[in-house]
Amino acid sequence: MTLATPGNPKLSAKTTSHPRLGSTSGRIEERARVSSAPALRRYGDIRELIASVENPTPLVRLNHVVSGTEGAPLDLWLKLEWLNPFGSIKDRTALFILRGMEERGELDGRAIVEPSSGNTGIALAALAALSGQRLTVTIPDGVPQEKKDLLRMLGADVMETPDDLCPVDHPKDGAIALARSIAETEGGSAFVMPNQYENPDNVRAHYETTGPEIWKQTEGRVRFFLAGYGTCGTLTGVAKYLKEQDATIQIIAIEPQAGHRLPGLKSFREAKIPAILDPSLIDHVIGVDDSDAYEMTRRLYREEGLIVGPSTGAIVHAARELRLGHRALRAESAPTAVAVSPDGGLKYMSYFSAGDPVSEPVRQLDTVTNDRSLDCTGMVCPLPIFKAKQTLDNMDPGEILEIVCTDPGSLSDFPALAKRTGHALLSVEEQDERQVFRLRVRA
Ligand SMILES: Cc1ncc(COP(=O)(O)O)c(C=O)c1O
Repeated sequence: MTLATPGNPKLSAKTTSHPRLGSTSGRIEERARVSSAPALRRYGDIRELIASVENPTPLVRLNHVVSGTEGAPLDLWLKLEWLNPFGSIKDRTALFILRGMEERGELDGRAIVEPSSGNTGIALAALAALSGQRLTVTIPDGVPQEKKDLLRMLGADVMETPDDLCPVDHPKDGAIALARSIAETEGGSAFVMPNQYENPDNVRAHYETTGPEIWKQTEGRVRFFLAGYGTCGTLTGVAKYLKEQDATIQIIAIEPQAGHRLPGLKSFREAKIPAILDPSLIDHVIGVDDSDAYEMTRRLYREEGLIVGPSTGAIVHAARELRLGHRALRAESAPTAVAVSPDGGLKYMSYFSAGDPVSEPVRQLDTVTNDRSLDCTGMVCPLPIFKAKQTLDNMDPGEILEIVCTDPGSLSDFPALAKRTGHALLSVEEQDERQVFRLRVRA
């Protein structure tokens, strides 16, 4: 992987403060900060609050959830990325991505379109609003309602796609495919797609800010860094910076289970590996399932007073596993580990209130009904196929699903779905204008 871009031929390890986005033109201008005395916490506008080496997000020590007598001691610190002004680690990414596009002249006269499971979209929407830029976000319909509401409040045009929680990149993917097709409309003259999965500015954001912040905040003592697989901007950027300081620092990637309910995270058993991931930087991958992630999330609220999103629970659970199992830990006394807390919990309350996430995380948090019949009357393909797939994924082996469709495209789509996924197509009936399919969930 190379981090060079046309506008930024070479990355330097030098840390920089954020250039400001101009208030009227949308152009980036270097402006003096209003606050020359950080203690006053006075800012020219909200963008100045996006974390930087001079204004890092806090590190907070975890005193309860990974302590105890089991395993080796670990001095674990959580980096609270939700204290960025738009609520997540993606504020950094959005700022760098927009700045890169401005510098390359890609925004001139064009609106932005980006697929997002929420946080990048929210940060882009806030920044776009400030610079008068139009933004369309394509978003999987399974993400929490709160995120979609936030996007609309910020003025983004929101297009929901029937999809899973992350924009999984496969031929029928909703969010990424839709964003791509919008970007290609009118020969690419109307929209530009930053594409955080392939954009080196996503990596640069973490190489120039998150990584140096962690190094400075731990006074060079960090031994382990833990973050989730998402677009992989965080892991690649931070890992590259930290390993340049000390090649023995261990980078731990957290991977959710296939079919997970942890927005922002990706399982590479079901999703394409982002182009910006540099796998040579990853020392270990720890798999975490939903129930462990949600249980740890609840413990973080109740034992540490931390209102975090569910992916933080997954990352901290992995730190606990590391403490219990990692050989290197036994040789050192309480090495310092830094785990990322990508976002806060308020945007997930509709998930949490859907039931106790610990007892039945996947089913109770699922937005798809578990009915044995699915009425897709009036829906145009590929919507019925997405709905059917989601429903089948949440049924038990051997159960039967009846699907009613009116779009003729379904006639080829359902047999193809059955063939691809291993579910058995039991019958196809045509009644008037309707097709009725019966599928049995694979054993
Ligand atoms: C909510 C959330 N957003 C994003 C990410 C991933 O960050 P990135 O896209 O930089 O890989 C994570 C990973 O833990 C996350 O939990």
